[in-house]
Amino acid sequence: MGLWHRLAQQFRQPTGILGRLAGVFFRINLEGIDWTISLLEIQPTDHVLEIGFGPGHGIQQVARIATQGRVAGVDFSEAMFQQASRRNAAAITVGRVELCLGDASALLYPDNTFHKIFATNVVYLWKDPLVNLQELRRVMKPGGRLALYVIAKEDLLKFKVTQTGVYQLYTGDDLVRLLTQAGFRPARFVTKAERHRIGICALAEK
Ligand SMILES: C[S@@+](CC[C@H](N)C(=O)[O-])C[C@H]1O[C@@H](n2cnc3c(N)ncnc32)[C@H](O)[C@@H]1O
Repeated sequence: MGLWHRLAQQFRQPTGILGRLAGVFFRINLEGIDWTISLLEIQPTDHVLEIGFGPGHGIQQVARIATQGRVAGVDFSEAMFQQASRRNAAAITVGRVELCLGDASALLYPDNTFHKIFATNVVYLWKDPLVNLQELRRVMKPGGRLALYVIAKEDLLKFKVTQTGVYQLYTGDDLVRLLTQAGFRPARFVTKAERHRIGICALAEK
């Protein structure tokens, strides 16, 4: 396995020391994470789920807004679970945040649980995105909102790490098609010029 493929695998599911370093590297995603959270229009009483929380920056932001609601996160990386748990230790202790190790394809929540669900820089790492999106839709309340953030395909294509077979790159239109296929409506996307790239956020409702 080549260097770029190894790196891509670390971004997909961080493990060990390299995984912990990847968690530090994910700080470059803060701008996109904050933007995505703003598009969700989270209310203080909302129940919010983040999929693929990585080092837990998004969870931390949401916990500051959904002060009387519920903030949950699922990630299948033990290394990220530990980093995010440390970052959000105080909120976890008082029961305002719950993180768990798990896979987006099989969530341990009942149907119709969350008002808002989001995933940043995750969907292009999914082998079967349709199955995962259908599972997200299952746990979303009717009228709930989903936000999926990705970096634009043309920006990611500049990096060797995205050409290893691990990433599936998406345009905004691709995401809208996928969300519609998964049963969400009405799906749309918005873009944002960030410092070194274009961010795309696809939004949809149940
Ligand atoms: C590139 S990192 C992004 C982390 C963070 N969301 C950000 O924007 O910086 C991808 C994260 O999604 C998690 N992940 C990828 N596929 C997953 C899946 N099927 N179920 C749960 N977590 C997943 C990985 O473990 C990793 O922490």
